[in-house]
Amino acid sequence: MHDTQHILSQRLARAIGAALGEQHAEVDPQLRPANNPKFGDYQANFAMGLAKRLGSKPRDIAQQVVDQLDTTGVCEKVELAGPGFINLHLSGEFIDKQVAAMAGDGQRLGVAPANPPRTVVVDYSGPNVAKEMHVGHLRSTVIGDAIARVMDFQGHNVIRQNHLGDWGTQFGMLLEYWGGSTGSGTARIERLRAASITFSDGREKQLSIRDLDALYREAKKKDDTDPAFAQRARQCVVALQSGDEDHVSRWRGLFEESKRHFEDVYKQLDVLLTDDDYRGESFYNPKLPGVVKGLEQVGLLQESQGAKVVFPEGFADREGQPQAMIVQKSDGGYLYATTDLAAARYRVDELHAERMIYVTDSRQSQHFAMVFKVLRQAGWALSNVQLEHVPFGTVLGKDNKPFKTREGGTVKLIDLLDEAQRRATEVIAQKNPDLADDERAQIAHAVGVGALKYADLSNDRIKDYVFDWDRMLAFDGNTAPYLQNAFVRIRSIFRKGGVDPAGLTGLSIAIREPAERALAVKLLQLPGVIDAVAQSLEPHRLCTYLYELASAFHQFYEKCPVLKPDAEETRDSRLALCGLVARTLKTGLGLLGIQVIDQM
Ligand code: ARG
Repeated sequence: MHDTQHILSQRLARAIGAALGEQHAEVDPQLRPANNPKFGDYQANFAMGLAKRLGSKPRDIAQQVVDQLDTTGVCEKVELAGPGFINLHLSGEFIDKQVAAMAGDGQRLGVAPANPPRTVVVDYSGPNVAKEMHVGHLRSTVIGDAIARVMDFQGHNVIRQNHLGDWGTQFGMLLEYWGGSTGSGTARIERLRAASITFSDGREKQLSIRDLDALYREAKKKDDTDPAFAQRARQCVVALQSGDEDHVSRWRGLFEESKRHFEDVYKQLDVLLTDDDYRGESFYNPKLPGVVKGLEQVGLLQESQGAKVVFPEGFADREGQPQAMIVQKSDGGYLYATTDLAAARYRVDELHAERMIYVTDSRQSQHFAMVFKVLRQAGWALSNVQLEHVPFGTVLGKDNKPFKTREGGTVKLIDLLDEAQRRATEVIAQKNPDLADDERAQIAHAVGVGALKYADLSNDRIKDYVFDWDRMLAFDGNTAPYLQNAFVRIRSIFRKGGVDPAGLTGLSIAIREPAERALAVKLLQLPGVIDAVAQSLEPHRLCTYLYELASAFHQFYEKCPVLKPDAEETRDSRLALCGLVARTLKTGLGLLGIQVIDQM
């Protein structure tokens, strides 16, 4: 099927070419859904920009284009408004036809497969080994996952990369602290698990992943205060980096422990990341000397105070001097940036990436801007490879400061997931006390985790947002439970009417009432929204759309009886419309990594 927005855009482009000359046929018609039905269904806003360039009046430009615009079979009315807006009103037959095509389009719902499909690498989550995942990792993980899902739905070849922080000097002190004397990594873990570990405050604890954070802090303390320990820790780094078997196996032990924890979080969080997606910093370790050498070969490498550095074009420090990016320290050690250069080369050369997306908080913007610049200057990413950093803001507490536990510590992601589930269980138990335990648990999972993810995704990602359990779990407003509830409502209409949703796709839809029309027009916007999300990498656009869709559904449901209308055909048509809304909600929430449920 042909997407409505696409059809209109093409016709507008043709009209622009015919009215103003073919050289303008490439102009973006700036077509978007109108935000007020008064202004029609779509609005084209190109006339203002184009008129400026042509030195004429926007309204004249718009009028000339409208005179050439062929809207047969598509619009019932085209109007000029304001300084030069073009308002397009879709015709009833066209809406009927488009909605029928969408309903008959199976899983794709009118979203055309990407042509051509591209290889897209999405780098997200990237937690650090030997540290527990915290609230900051929530954002990267859920935003990255939604982006990966949307592009996969479009038909791109999506490669997820989990750039774990699993390498670096911190492992020296961890291994030294954790190591004891001898034994393989696994044997040590077994021993530590069995024997428990004594912390410096005298606390004894069985080692589990939840203590890795504590282990890290203890090791750090010792590293800072005990020079002999620090010295041994340095030797551990050297031994590890040179591939010493004992050290590597101990490191692997830490890694495996951490991975178990990450997997636990990913599973609870319903994200796509699996074992195959792990490609941590350690993977690139053997490639780091090649990065430095490569930079030397292309003439970008310089020495500065014993360190090897590059000066990416266009970056200045506070004094206005060219800003250095260190790729190798004077002691021979490599840095985060060196690893990112190696990773990018790997993604271009081996994975054949055509678009590389990095989802991290906005404090890393400068880092990625510099890395991208170096990749371009070195010729390691040519212009056919798109490089994008997807930055996001901070999660705040109600005091508008970064979200912390009551004690002032970092909020662990696993605790958030537990609490989400617990709170959702309460909410569901209140709403529906008759549910069986296992049903309630399953629903609470979908609602709790869904609410947590949706609260994150529905905010413009670049902004900070305030974490608020009550708001995210509310059944009204732009929340996951509201959308899940709309789905449940449709399922209960089907249950009440004894309707099998699978049988609905063949029924014809005839739009009559204004509330039906508004709902249908909203449904038809889906492909444009998917496109916009993939382009802007802003999942909140999909959230806004789903919220508007669910609201349009509720209005329709109030005005238009579904099971007991005046005529049989109307019943079929309305049921089919409900079925289409349910499928769109399910697909849309699915693209955000959120499950729908049949009852709640
Ligand atoms: N480990 C990093 C962190 O916790 C995130 C990694 C992001 N990806 C990258 N290619 N640098 O901040």
